Amino acid sequence: MNEQRRFKVAVVGATGAVGETMLAILAERKFPVSEVVALASARSAGGEVEFDGKKIVVQDLATFDPTGVDIALFSAGGGVSKEYAPKFAAAGVVVIDNSSAFRYDDDVPLVVSEVNPDAARQRPRSIIANPNCSTMQLMPVLAPIHREYGIERINVATYQSVSGGGRTAMEELGKQTAQLLNFQDIDPQKFPVQIAFNLIPHIDDFQDNGYTKEEMKLVWETRKILGDDSIQVNPTAVRVPVFFGHSEAVNIETKKKITPEQARALLAAAPGVQVVDEHKPGGYPTPVTHASGTDPVYVGRIREDLSHPRGLNLWVVADNIRKGAALNAVQLAELVAAEA
Ligand code: A2P
Repeated sequence: MNEQRRFKVAVVGATGAVGETMLAILAERKFPVSEVVALASARSAGGEVEFDGKKIVVQDLATFDPTGVDIALFSAGGGVSKEYAPKFAAAGVVVIDNSSAFRYDDDVPLVVSEVNPDAARQRPRSIIANPNCSTMQLMPVLAPIHREYGIERINVATYQSVSGGGRTAMEELGKQTAQLLNFQDIDPQKFPVQIAFNLIPHIDDFQDNGYTKEEMKLVWETRKILGDDSIQVNPTAVRVPVFFGHSEAVNIETKKKITPEQARALLAAAPGVQVVDEHKPGGYPTPVTHASGTDPVYVGRIREDLSHPRGLNLWVVADNIRKGAALNAVQLAELVAAEA
């Protein structure tokens, strides 16, 4: 990276769970900023958010002029991205978008920094899409296995924390937990049914094929990122009453057999991945003990599939707000900055 060059960076959705972490990670990784602009809706305009130990005033996205901004990190939902990302791009801004608005467009690259960084350079619309959290954490683990052993099929069940649903979802889990422990009635708002002390096999909208959109994101995004439409993906996405960190029980079938020892050796060398795989109590990653507030994608419980000659089981855990969203977005900004 050219040490002289500094970038004017805008964070859209700066008051949200992901936006706030984007600001924290930009400072933590010492991203070379000349100025940071915090944007949100008119509701939050005039309020303050923190960047690098200082307060910055939140501005209204609707009236903000993007001229002069170099890079914008968007995390304010698909509707906001659809409306404003093209306007920012037209003003010469490189947009890194955390929503699903553009992920499946052929002329928008979908990039995990450790897996397909070169794809970020081909961005005719000046937009780079950040994958969905559940696909994001799977890719640094599965890409090296796919390259050497060829993945034919992926069976995955997710255990997704409420922070993936934003601030209001976290508040709902906290509130329902307190109400139930105090023998009070609950009134689900953000989630379709009770989330405290429960599991919900329903994230995002149902599709015509009976899968949810969250599940189909795993199918579409895995194929696009690994550049292989032949990979079969069978997902089930479940919301769990955990605040931070998504977990995934993953079963893969490979063209060439991979043993657990070979998988451990390959993953120990994979960028962004940490193997935690000991056969003893606590010798595996969990959202609370490992993932929450940290950067790596953790993998454990690596074992042969007893029911298939070329099957392997893995347990993959990561902080969905960091690697699953804000960290990768900042890593993509670093790739863009490195081109300058
Ligand atoms: P605001 O605080 O003004 O509502 P989360 O996913 O954690 O709920 O955060 C969503 C983020 O997206 C917040 O920063 C929110 O800002 C922002 N946002 C939502 N709607 C809009 C909008 N129409 N224009 C700009 N920012 C928006």
